[in-house]
Amino acid sequence: MAKKPTSPEEIQAYEERRRVEQRAEREKRLRERAQRGGLWSRRDFFGRLSWGGFGLISLVSLLAFVRSAFPRVLFVPPSTFKAGFPGDYPVGEVSEKYRSDQRTWIVREPQGFYAIFANCTHLGCTPRWSSSENKYKCPCHGSGYYRTGYNFEGPAPRPMDRFKLSLADDGQLLVDKSTVFKMQPGVDPNKQHPESILRI
Ligand code: FES
Repeated sequence: MAKKPTSPEEIQAYEERRRVEQRAEREKRLRERAQRGGLWSRRDFFGRLSWGGFGLISLVSLLAFVRSAFPRVLFVPPSTFKAGFPGDYPVGEVSEKYRSDQRTWIVREPQGFYAIFANCTHLGCTPRWSSSENKYKCPCHGSGYYRTGYNFEGPAPRPMDRFKLSLADDGQLLVDKSTVFKMQPGVDPNKQHPESILRI
């Protein structure tokens, strides 16, 4: 055990030693903190801030690049479809084969084919073909149409429209839904748009 200072010289020397030790301890702590790289030192703070900004800008650029790989395109279904070969349709048939997915009836008459847009001209419901009654009947408000698409009962204001029908290179019927023969009220569709009939 160290001998307790008693004389004034020993006390002064002891306190001087204590001051030196304390200063050394403080400096040691400061050095250690600097080595640890104080998280909130000014230099580090600004360094981290600029790296953060750089990272953020890079992330935004990356997202923009990825987004550009998916162009904003509205995918619409093709406006034409093939409806099989003319020989697939017996004369006098109203085919419901494409009514559900294409809203189209293919009708074969002695004079040729036509494609009716299965869209009630009252409020746009999809009518059904009734072969027993030989008419299209709309389930919504009861409009009725002859096989040509001419309206004769219910609130429908005019006949149903038709799509352009032609023959594709491979000989199949080709329905072009982008070309619509718009029907006016009070006139037989075969007479107001004879070009809607594909005569083969
Ligand atoms: S929508 Fe067809 S009768 Fe009203």
